[in-house]
Amino acid sequence: MVGIRGFGVDVGGSGIKGALVDLETGELVEERIKIATPHPSTPDAVAATVAEIAARAGWDGPVGVTLPSVVTNGIARTAANIDESWIGTDARTLFSTALGGRAVTVLNDADAAGLAEDRYGAGKDVDGVVVLLTFGTGIGSAVLHNGVLLPNTEFGHMEVDGMEAEHRAASSVKDTKSLSYKEWAAEVTRVLCRFEDLLWPDLFIAGGGISRKHEKWIPRLENRTPVVPATLLNTAGIVGAAMATQNSLEKGIAP
Ligand code: BGC
Repeated sequence: MVGIRGFGVDVGGSGIKGALVDLETGELVEERIKIATPHPSTPDAVAATVAEIAARAGWDGPVGVTLPSVVTNGIARTAANIDESWIGTDARTLFSTALGGRAVTVLNDADAAGLAEDRYGAGKDVDGVVVLLTFGTGIGSAVLHNGVLLPNTEFGHMEVDGMEAEHRAASSVKDTKSLSYKEWAAEVTRVLCRFEDLLWPDLFIAGGGISRKHEKWIPRLENRTPVVPATLLNTAGIVGAAMATQNSLEKGIAP
């Protein structure tokens, strides 16, 4: 028997990745399709790529799409690592038109990853408040309470000791400042301490590419809330986007 399926597309600064997802297990049904992000990454160019991915997969149902943006009511409000012309774009209508008028849900990339990790990954057996942080070019955040997402939290932009959190502790900062894991973990600790003093989460999930090397830095963190690495890694955004097609995320209703 074929379970409930959804199609998710994750739009990133370097690649746009999509796949059909089994929503009972959170696993990809087929290998993901990846196309390099067009340059410039304008709304029309990205929408054409999303449509191409769905066509290549032979999918004609609803599609969930992530953006590295604040997204309210389908409208992109910010643009991190994608063309600035996204700001103010009605992304839901744009993608829907590119996909022949079908239903589309658009959400922030970290929010999608948080939904997926909370349901199928590192947060699946955890009750209470789960905060997922993606450490990459910036820091993305997702806050969930018993599976309900509070969208667009943008904690990466919170000021921590006089500096934006993501300017202090994104994994890109480790590279540009040539920090050791020890030095970088000290910055991550400062950021986590600030977040936990305000949110009192039960668990932090650390995502982003650097979570693959978690044994080098998670044990060095000195904040009080447990931190575990994400387990879905590069499928989390796709899976969360696919989940978003199945529920009323935009209304804040639990998946
Ligand atoms: C953006 C967020 C995004 C995160 C990860 C931040 O700079 O403001 O919207 O989730 O980067 O891509």
